[in-house]
Amino acid sequence: MSLIANKRVLSGMRPTGQLHLGHYHGVLKNWVRLQHEYECFFFVADWHALTTSYEATGIISDSVFDIIVDWLSVGINPGEATIFVQSRVPEHAELHLLLSMITPISWLERVPTYKDQQEKLKERDLSTYGFLGYPLLQTADILIYKAGHVPVGEDQVAHIELSREIARRFNFLYGREPGFEEKAEAAVRKLGKRNAKLYEELRKRYQEEGDPEALARGRAFLDAQQNISLGDRERLLGYLEGGGKVILPEPQALLTPESKMPGLDGEKMSKSYNNTIALREAPDSVRTKLRTMPTDPARVRRTDPGDPAKCPVWKFHEIYSPPDVRQWVQEGCRSAGIGCLDCKQPVIDAVLTEQAPIRERSEEFLADPDTVRAIVDEGCEAARIAARETLEEVREVMNLSYRR
Ligand code: TRP
Ligand code: SF4
Repeated sequence: MSLIANKRVLSGMRPTGQLHLGHYHGVLKNWVRLQHEYECFFFVADWHALTTSYEATGIISDSVFDIIVDWLSVGINPGEATIFVQSRVPEHAELHLLLSMITPISWLERVPTYKDQQEKLKERDLSTYGFLGYPLLQTADILIYKAGHVPVGEDQVAHIELSREIARRFNFLYGREPGFEEKAEAAVRKLGKRNAKLYEELRKRYQEEGDPEALARGRAFLDAQQNISLGDRERLLGYLEGGGKVILPEPQALLTPESKMPGLDGEKMSKSYNNTIALREAPDSVRTKLRTMPTDPARVRRTDPGDPAKCPVWKFHEIYSPPDVRQWVQEGCRSAGIGCLDCKQPVIDAVLTEQAPIRERSEEFLADPDTVRAIVDEGCEAARIAARETLEEVREVMNLSYRR
């Protein structure tokens, strides 16, 4: 293991239809940024889509390929990030099953999305075993890569919290390997005299005085050690923290700032509101959608003044226009100096400019599906290697290694 485990980032997206500009401004730009700083795993959560769409599965398979083309087209780089499909890494399912053994049903029932989504999607029967297990499957997705950070929106934070609780419970139950203290002491000695002394000091300060800075420094110290094995690293971490061996580290949510991308009606852009512009929507359709979008209702005639604060077009200017254009809108709208179509033109131009390179790249990928498939094959293989490594350890500590 050359890369430090907790610098790993993992996130997933359900394939439920075409991606739109809301996804781009909220999630995808963030992913593109993260891939330069972290070892990133991004995957298509097709099994998660199945929990709610089990009656109409066609949309899922259609979307998987499209979503990956979208990711690649916005600049998720397979040279930097591992891109894969959940169902092609069946190790997630095995970890999900094993974790289900130690997961109290009440923990799942009290995850807020469980009841919320059942209420919201009334037309579907979501009183299924699979849907109850949704956040546990997500937990397995995260823990199998020992991801330190999970970029998600506000609505997913409770799921990350569950995965922390499950990791803690798992480590508590199975982190007490026989002879843990002796093994930990041996690992301390392997650090070398000076480092062992530093580690012992920090451990003592945390254990005896509860000094959180000592804990933070101890963790950073272990992160920086190049020459210790993964097993020893986890023992030393567990020993520092006062528990047993940390087999599945607790992940942290990396909250994605809420996308400010408005929809065509001024509400949040979302497929369920039917107010979206697709990431690679045809230019003519983009023009039509923007030209016909509603404006301040006070501007019935061209000569009626309006108020940008009451107009969804203004929200687009806030995202796309530089200060001078915004000032032009403010003045022209309030004085009826400009018409609404004039006002929309810079937005139309900016959206088309933003989409042009994305559309261009997506056309290249669509014309060459074999390349896309090869990227996914490679990503799935890389993900499986990482996932298997964790699963081996999990089987080991659960005494399931005889199955080999
Ligand atoms: N539940 C997430 C969503 O709806 C998708 C997802 C599945 C996910 N597994 C994950 C996100 C693991 C982060 C990590 O958006
Ligand atoms: Fe909206 Fe612009 Fe028309 Fe004013 S001029 S109502 S901001 S579209």
